Amino acid sequence: MSTLDKLTQIDEVSVNGKSSRLPGFYKLDISERLEKLDDFFKLSTKEKWMLKKETLTAELADVMIENAVGVFGLPIGLAVNFKLNNKDYIIPMVVEESSVVAAASNAARLIRENGALTSESTDPIMISQIQIVDSPDPEAGKKRILEKKEDLLRLANKQDPVLVDLGGGAQDLDVRLLETESGTMIIVHLYVDTRDAMGANVVNTMAETLGPIIAEIADGDVICQIVSNYADKRMVKVKFVLDNVDCLARAGYSGEEAADRIIKAYHFADADPHRAATHNKGVMNGIDGVLIATGNDWRAVEAGVHAYAARDGRYRSVSKYYRDEKGKFVGELEIPMAVGIVGGVTNLHPGVKILLKVMNVETSMELAQVVATAGLIQNFAAIWTLATEGIQKGHMTLHARNVAIFAGAFGELAIKVANQMAHEGRVRYDRAKQILKPLLIKHREEEEQRKKREKK
Ligand code: MEV
Repeated sequence: MSTLDKLTQIDEVSVNGKSSRLPGFYKLDISERLEKLDDFFKLSTKEKWMLKKETLTAELADVMIENAVGVFGLPIGLAVNFKLNNKDYIIPMVVEESSVVAAASNAARLIRENGALTSESTDPIMISQIQIVDSPDPEAGKKRILEKKEDLLRLANKQDPVLVDLGGGAQDLDVRLLETESGTMIIVHLYVDTRDAMGANVVNTMAETLGPIIAEIADGDVICQIVSNYADKRMVKVKFVLDNVDCLARAGYSGEEAADRIIKAYHFADADPHRAATHNKGVMNGIDGVLIATGNDWRAVEAGVHAYAARDGRYRSVSKYYRDEKGKFVGELEIPMAVGIVGGVTNLHPGVKILLKVMNVETSMELAQVVATAGLIQNFAAIWTLATEGIQKGHMTLHARNVAIFAGAFGELAIKVANQMAHEGRVRYDRAKQILKPLLIKHREEEEQRKKREKK
């Protein structure tokens, strides 16, 4: 029985008794959306106030980094309609780009209504690297290190007994000889199960403890002792399968045609690094916002995903689209995903604490799967649009509103200016100013007349 078949037999898990399918959520105002969220998670008045006004104080910022002068705001959006492994999720995203949250919510809805999303992940194994140089006999050094493997692992685990008690800790170690411009180096990889933490701290401590000892064993010198952000032992795989392709019909293309065009668009990304970079950027559009919302190191995940994309020596698409043996349309994403739900910023940032509550995950592995799902769905939304109606139509309406506001429009005027620019297909600051000018004059005249009438 396939994983998908097994999962579809599992009882459905809603978000605290409710479905994340929230029709019309986008039409509510911020306070109404917060009240809806309250239905799911029982947020305190303070938590709701914080989400709306201030998730981080300057005083805390001053503790987090050096030379702090304040905090920087970004929108927090909720991607709705997600159902993964039969469990509903409302996914918080911190992102400045318009249309990301809407695209994710719409595509998640399409999939929940026409198919299923499933995921799996490896254990949360991080890699720590120890670089040994100038060993007089690297081959013999390697052999001696491997002979001491059990002692080295024991020593590594003494650095974090709590992690070991939780079922994690250093599990294995391997040694490679690497030819470089500076000669042959001995590279040791320490494999550590970091459980619910992202784990960079713990694996760096272990590496710095073992480094000098390993250098002595190999009769060499230790240089770098640091986590690898190419976390290819901490992998996550997400997949969706559509029952049929009719739901993909769009912009005059039938479902069959749209499916074919999406697959060809993916083949382009897989074959061409220039396209792959943009395609994978679309994946990261879904991922980074969730990582920021949950206090995770998005630079680390970005680095890992792009390294993985180039694993064959050519930079390729990290997602795949194909028709399976039964002709069903499948989307798939497999990437390294080093994320945590404890430690680091997750313990410190008040906004992250609230958003982790909203994320409603129990382990770092579950978070990794939800994050990757947001990436796949975002990528699917982008490639489906690209392959059918083109990206500018939808993007432009939202972008046009931002440009209109930037040009000085507000309220109804911003909508009028934006609609006009979108209609013309010319979304530019100078054009927004032109359209706005007569509207603004008219608006002021009407306001004056209204005031006069009120005085009488
Ligand atoms: C824009 O932020 C992301 C896209 O360019 C992704 C893609 O081209 O696949 C639309």
